[in-house]
Amino acid sequence: MFRWALNRLFGNKSVRQNRAIVLSRRPKGELRQGDLTLKASDVPAANDGEILVESLWLSLDPYMRPQMNDMESYQDPVSIGGTMPGEVVGRVIESKSRNFRVGDIVTCHSGWQEYYVASDSEDGLYKVDPEGIPIQAYLGVAGMPGRTAYCGLKYLGKPAAGETLVVSAASGAVGSVVGQLAKREGCTVVGIAGGSKKCDFVVNDLGFDACIDYKSGDLTQQLKAACPNGIDIYFENVGGDVSKAIVPLLNAGSRVPICGFVSVYNTTSPETVETPMHIFGTMESPPEHRFFLVAEWQDQHQEITETLANLVRSGHLNYRESVSEGLESAPEAFKGMLAGKNFGKQLVHIRD
Ligand SMILES: NC(=O)c1ccc[n+]([C@@H]2O[C@H](COP(=O)([O-])OP(=O)(O)OC[C@H]3O[C@@H](n4cnc5c(N)ncnc54)[C@H](OP(=O)(O)O)[C@@H]3O)[C@@H](O)[C@H]2O)c1
Repeated sequence: MFRWALNRLFGNKSVRQNRAIVLSRRPKGELRQGDLTLKASDVPAANDGEILVESLWLSLDPYMRPQMNDMESYQDPVSIGGTMPGEVVGRVIESKSRNFRVGDIVTCHSGWQEYYVASDSEDGLYKVDPEGIPIQAYLGVAGMPGRTAYCGLKYLGKPAAGETLVVSAASGAVGSVVGQLAKREGCTVVGIAGGSKKCDFVVNDLGFDACIDYKSGDLTQQLKAACPNGIDIYFENVGGDVSKAIVPLLNAGSRVPICGFVSVYNTTSPETVETPMHIFGTMESPPEHRFFLVAEWQDQHQEITETLANLVRSGHLNYRESVSEGLESAPEAFKGMLAGKNFGKQLVHIRD
């Protein structure tokens, strides 16, 4: 009664609080304290045709780093003061939409924040099926990185039984799926990863034929030994010295889907940095290669998600996660991921 009277007098002060991480300054090189800031605000209510989503898991992805630069690319740069972009798995807690109910689990591009009002028709908002699969897998193995692996491999890698495929960042979100799918196509699969723990996981848990620690010495020599018939498909995730070590081993007719080049994302000169497009494009006989975006196959989003989720449910796709706790831990976890401190898909756990 007393609370009700206070609310009548002063309005309801128990409005939900949101916390978001915003870009306060463009990083120069590696992320530094102060580049990202935690900002609080009131959570708005959902209007007609909208839902209010509470974030449960946030995905941290390498592409977010180039988006922090003031440079035109396939994505607009994040504005100063803008919420960091990103995808979450969340729960619908208010619905003014006929398509969503309170309690539905969804993926959406809310950015790095705890609450988000989504229009029920916006791009990237999907209900997910939590049955028999941890919901956060929809940000990793059965999410955008899994679909990237699936499309890049199938449509650009074009694997055939008996061929040799090499994939870099092999223990990571994309690389781990590429290798396992290529094994299912009958390829010999060799991973490249940083450190013996990651390499052991890639061979013993993911079932690759071999994995090379690129930090442990002459990479081309090690690759030569692991790929006696040369390389037919190189799935590019990192760029730099790793790409250069691949060049002499590519067979005639080889394919190089260029998915990303994380080794140079922290560069201080993004306009002039050497990319895999330069490295493979300037070879005397270049392989079939191009940069691709998972969004090219957006029309297959649901079908591929289901295929990957079913492979996880049936135990045919293995994966690992690195989880950091609480939204405030995201900047440090993100910085760590770009330095290889993650072991598997990097996630932020926001709430149960
Ligand atoms: N084109 C698309 O649509 C699309 C979509 C998703 C992702 N991607 C790209 O796919 C790549 C992998 O992304 P992910 O989400 O799967 O990340 P991830 O592999 O889970 O994490 C990044 C990994 O990159 C490796 N790395 C960092 N610096 C490196 C260096 N200097 N040399 C070699 N490796 C380095 C680290 O692994 P090690 O410890 O093994 O070095 C780190 O764990 C990225 O380039 C990303 O931009 C592209």
